[in-house]
Amino acid sequence: MLHNNLSVLIVDDDQGMHMISRLLIRGMTFQGKKVALISAHSIEEARQQFAENQDVSVAVINAPEGQIDQYIQLIRHLRHTLKLKELRIILSIVSYKEIKDVGEYENLDINDLRTINELTEENFAIVVRTALRDYLAEAQLTQHISGLHSLISDLSAEVKVADHTLYEVLKKIESIMGRPEGNSKLVIEPNADWNVVFSEGQFSGLSEKEIFEGSEELIELVKKYTATQTNYFLYSNDKVFFSLNMIANQDALCCIFGCERAYQDSYTLGITQLFTTEYSLKIRNERLQKDLLMSHRHVLTKLCESVEVRSPETGKHIYRIGMYAALFSKILGFDEEYQILIEHAAPLHDIGKIAIPDVILMKPGKLTTDEFETMKTHVIHGFNFFKRESDEIRPLLDLAAVIALTHHEKWDGSGYPNQTSGIDIPIAGRIVALCDVFDALRSKRCYKEPVTLKETLRIMQKDAGTHFDPKLMKIFAKHHVKFDQIFLDNIDHDANE
Ligand SMILES: [Fe+2]
Ligand SMILES: [Fe+2]
Repeated sequence: MLHNNLSVLIVDDDQGMHMISRLLIRGMTFQGKKVALISAHSIEEARQQFAENQDVSVAVINAPEGQIDQYIQLIRHLRHTLKLKELRIILSIVSYKEIKDVGEYENLDINDLRTINELTEENFAIVVRTALRDYLAEAQLTQHISGLHSLISDLSAEVKVADHTLYEVLKKIESIMGRPEGNSKLVIEPNADWNVVFSEGQFSGLSEKEIFEGSEELIELVKKYTATQTNYFLYSNDKVFFSLNMIANQDALCCIFGCERAYQDSYTLGITQLFTTEYSLKIRNERLQKDLLMSHRHVLTKLCESVEVRSPETGKHIYRIGMYAALFSKILGFDEEYQILIEHAAPLHDIGKIAIPDVILMKPGKLTTDEFETMKTHVIHGFNFFKRESDEIRPLLDLAAVIALTHHEKWDGSGYPNQTSGIDIPIAGRIVALCDVFDALRSKRCYKEPVTLKETLRIMQKDAGTHFDPKLMKIFAKHHVKFDQIFLDNIDHDANE
């Protein structure tokens, strides 16, 4: 974690040494940050100071003669118990002869080991500055790694655009560009008016006119962006500009002002640029995929509707079947993905009727045996409509094929087309069979009046174990009010009045 101020803790039992150190590093700044001095006159005091302030950047520990073991124990406490990984430790000892185990010094990551004679008034400030530089480098590396980790997990996770507001993305980029708090942020929509989507810090509350009039750099930026357009990324002094594909399929131009100059290294810029580019691409791809899926469903639904207008089923029947099937699979404990799939696959169960001649499909009276045989072929036509032409797995169409083929099979094997029985009938087929009959009974058709809920349930329960899977029927009966609610909420008024 990087802080605006740096601090050096001196551990020494000699008050004189504290006074000299204070004089030597008084008013010191390093990379624009003030360096504060903290004193501890004993091991206990040092422990106390670290317990209260774990952000110490450098510890200068002077171990008096014969006490080195206690001081090593203090360092062990800092590294192992408090896990102060970034803290730089300068240990000054009386003589190298005191060192018994060199390996231990390496394990404890003592960054600078010197004798008292080697840490003089002349070199003290230099030694501290070197340690501060190492501390900042270590802290920066830690921040880079955690920032990178967070970016990678963002890129590998499924993008949910709604969950990733521009602001969150900006915060993430800020965190790897240094100084996570206190930057000024501006996001502009690159339309003709360059509308400000949001502003923070120095831009907060300003109009577009005020913002642009106050910054030559922004006007330059807009000009440059207009010329280059895609995947824009620019770093200038303490500012970072980039484009993200976030707003209504358009790029948003984002600006963060006040980034640390220390982060102007090619590593950080490379990662940030990669992130903004990849993230934009990912969002574009997701939009495209969503659009394809929607178009896909739209075409299939329209096809179903074209079948429905030729058959006695009413308009919303197919949608209700989808909703019943989704609810049923939810009750049965199927995951959300399956619930969505069945919701969209179940309405396609009768698509094979597209191949049934009008004279049969729209016949008002009872069908002859031959006509019924023709009618029964709709399950095969439906299956052929969706069946795979290659090995490619297509979850929605594969499920639609299964449902089209099996929704007229019966539990006792007396259904069609294959007289499959029991659990050999795929669960999706058993679910849709039940939902289809329920909806047909509850609906008004040109040849019949709607059946009451109570009567519908009685008729269906009579067929448990013959037509329907008895276990599924039991579950359906237990939750029948919820299924009927779907029917009532999506009723065809013209048909059921
Ligand atoms: Fe059917
Ligand atoms: Fe149906």
